[in-house]
Amino acid sequence: MDRIRIVGGARLSGTIPISGAKNATLPLMIASLLTEGTLILENVPRLVDVVQLQRILGNHGVDIMIAGKRPGDAPNSGRTLHISAKHIVDTTAPYELVSKMRASFWVLAPLVARRGEARVSMPGGCAIGTRPVDLLIMAMEKLGAQIDIEGGYVVARAPRGLRGGEIEFPKITVGGTHTAVMAATLANGTTVIENAAREPEIGDVADCLNKMGAKISGAGTPRIVIEGVAKLDGARHSVLPDRIETGTYAMAVAMAGGDVLLQNARPELLQAALDVLGETGVAVTPTNEGIRITRNGAALAPVEVTTAPFPGFPTDLQAQLMALMTRANGVSRITETIFENRFMHVQELARFGAHIHLDGQTATVEGVKRLRGAPVMATDLRASVSLVIAALAAEGETMVNRVYHLDRGFERLEEKLSHCGATIERLSA
Ligand code: UD1
Repeated sequence: MDRIRIVGGARLSGTIPISGAKNATLPLMIASLLTEGTLILENVPRLVDVVQLQRILGNHGVDIMIAGKRPGDAPNSGRTLHISAKHIVDTTAPYELVSKMRASFWVLAPLVARRGEARVSMPGGCAIGTRPVDLLIMAMEKLGAQIDIEGGYVVARAPRGLRGGEIEFPKITVGGTHTAVMAATLANGTTVIENAAREPEIGDVADCLNKMGAKISGAGTPRIVIEGVAKLDGARHSVLPDRIETGTYAMAVAMAGGDVLLQNARPELLQAALDVLGETGVAVTPTNEGIRITRNGAALAPVEVTTAPFPGFPTDLQAQLMALMTRANGVSRITETIFENRFMHVQELARFGAHIHLDGQTATVEGVKRLRGAPVMATDLRASVSLVIAALAAEGETMVNRVYHLDRGFERLEEKLSHCGATIERLSA
């Protein structure tokens, strides 16, 4: 398995292009199942999770064509996918495929909406605590699907189609909201979703669905209203920039010091995280081209942060912030409220000499004067990149093992960082 070797200490300067958002790309690809027409997605990042979802959709009979580069395309521009689910040949999503990526469970909604039935394995994905699907199932039931659990599979049936309904989520869920929105687009009548997730990716998917002919209003607010339509058409849509990748590189620059432009990044997608970076003493400057992050030698101030659904501080940046705070001048407190057990990075960060004390869902991080490079293990997607951030400021060499997790969510990470002066390379097994 590949490893990544990093020698800490170099400052970062230059430009890092921000890719299309993984968490929008996946539901957008899944939304292609709602139409016989061709969905053209631009700015798609090159990620293992995208390839994995291509496989899953292929199993349902979806054809995906990846367009080559055109004259004038920037060398690092995202790819364009032409996705056609004209003929759905299979409505079962098997364990071997779904267990590799949790979001693939979401195919349940469009399959039932379009074909009246689906059999989808209970999901796997990142090992960050129990990640149930009860709310996704509840949403499908509210829209008239009959649900049975058979041999580890969720079987959903709506032979006469789905009907509009009222869905009130007792807890904010991104996957539940995506599922409800997708299913409701083709339901008979109007659906109202209360306490919907407001993550920017929900809005991006709704924009695309509206281009396909759906009637969705209120995406990005807690109340989404969907008027069902009889069918959806193809469309062309460009994936919004990845706010988690943006926040991750912003913290990498904060950690290593230097001056980097995060090209194509949009501040409004991660204002809470940028505010926290501002509190640490890092300069965050929105420009026409993206966001500029600068830190010149000044010490990092400690912070108190609690993760929350959007527009709060994202759980997907919690591990990266913790890595940064290991070098702060004082004691930080970071509380995780979205996922239990999302602290696997704590023991790996300790290998660098970080001082972190865990008490329930709160980590107390006592900043230290120096970190030292170490062999470490990537555990889940966001935790792995926190180890890269720590390594950038650690003395000596760090070897990150099991980088499979990094490749799921970060496109050409070592290339983007080495272009800015980091000493980082991939060692292929
Ligand atoms: C999505 C993101 C993930 C991010 C998370 C929270 C994608 C592909 N993934 O994951 O990167 O970390 O949002 O911002 O977009 N829950 C239930 N029952 C359910 C569903 C969820 O109890 O049926 C709980 C979860 O256990 C968790 C919370 O709700 O505690 C939020 O989970 P959710 O927003 O659904 O996360 P995902 O959509 O899986």
